Amino acid sequence: MKFKVNSYHFKLLRDYERLSAFKEAIDDYAKSHDEEKSPDSLKVAFDLGCGSGVLSYFACPHMDKIIAIELNNSSYQLAKENLKEFDKIHVFNDDILSFDFSKLNEKADLIICEMLDTALIDEEEVPVLDHAKKYLKEGGKIIPEGIINSAEAVFMNNHFIQYEDDEYSPIYIALGDSMIYSEFDFLDDIDCNFSAMVDLNIYDKNELNEIGFEDEISKEIFEKFRFKDNFNIKENKLKINGIKLTSFTKLDEKIICGPTPMLNPSMLVPIEEIEVTCGDTVRIKLEYIMGGGVETINADILDIIHN
Ligand SMILES: C[S@@+](CC[C@H](N)C(=O)[O-])C[C@H]1O[C@@H](n2cnc3c(N)ncnc32)[C@H](O)[C@@H]1O
Repeated sequence: MKFKVNSYHFKLLRDYERLSAFKEAIDDYAKSHDEEKSPDSLKVAFDLGCGSGVLSYFACPHMDKIIAIELNNSSYQLAKENLKEFDKIHVFNDDILSFDFSKLNEKADLIICEMLDTALIDEEEVPVLDHAKKYLKEGGKIIPEGIINSAEAVFMNNHFIQYEDDEYSPIYIALGDSMIYSEFDFLDDIDCNFSAMVDLNIYDKNELNEIGFEDEISKEIFEKFRFKDNFNIKENKLKINGIKLTSFTKLDEKIICGPTPMLNPSMLVPIEEIEVTCGDTVRIKLEYIMGGGVETINADILDIIHN
């Protein structure tokens, strides 16, 4: 099947890892719910933020009816055109946040919602699901099922928020292992106002030796970061000025998809620049509004713990 798309949806369709993860999760859902088909109740799916309509297309063979909703008018027109042969898919041009699901007179067995963004900050996955979930049947499923977020300390070149995507990769040095700081199941009630204390461990001397910290640094980074001025390894001194957030999408109980170019590319967030000692723990207060945009991110250093 050929899809008509705009440049944004073209990039989304070209990201095969993202697409295959969703396709596999939808097929898994169909396999595990096949025997539940009853002759007198329709199997209904909602595809929220349907874009080009690709996920409705994947779900179509397994469902009796699909309600696909898209806010952007030109994307809605494309979805309508792409899905016109499928009578069981109904495409609406609406804002899901104010969409009146009660007018449909039926609830969903399955909600598919790919409005994902790193740590769920810049897209409306959480507020949209909060509104639509009231119209999910008891025992109903959501794809994706949830998300896992991790953070690590870095030294980065630019002091603004940047995504690590395929077109423009920011330059940074990782200064410690990534640690999970939050995990959400989309069936749970989720407060959009996120706030957590995140302890980031800085590599100790042995870990620096093991990863060959200084030897592995590229010439470009060495020069760009004035490495010798900022990293005095002999005296165990490193500089930190950012955190890297990475999200892993839990499609279902079997599939966890890491960042892909168009699905939650890692995000670098600047923080105050400070000098730390190898082996320290940097305690950060991380706050943002899920669905509120990157301008809601606040990351403040609370404490440096010398281990
Ligand atoms: C990441 S794209 C995913 C598109 C498609 N489902 C796919 O997987 O290729 C998210 C889509 O959600 C739409 N969207 C964002 N907020 C929305 C809202 N409040 N109501 C309806 N659609 C929305 C965007 O316009 C965009 O097309």
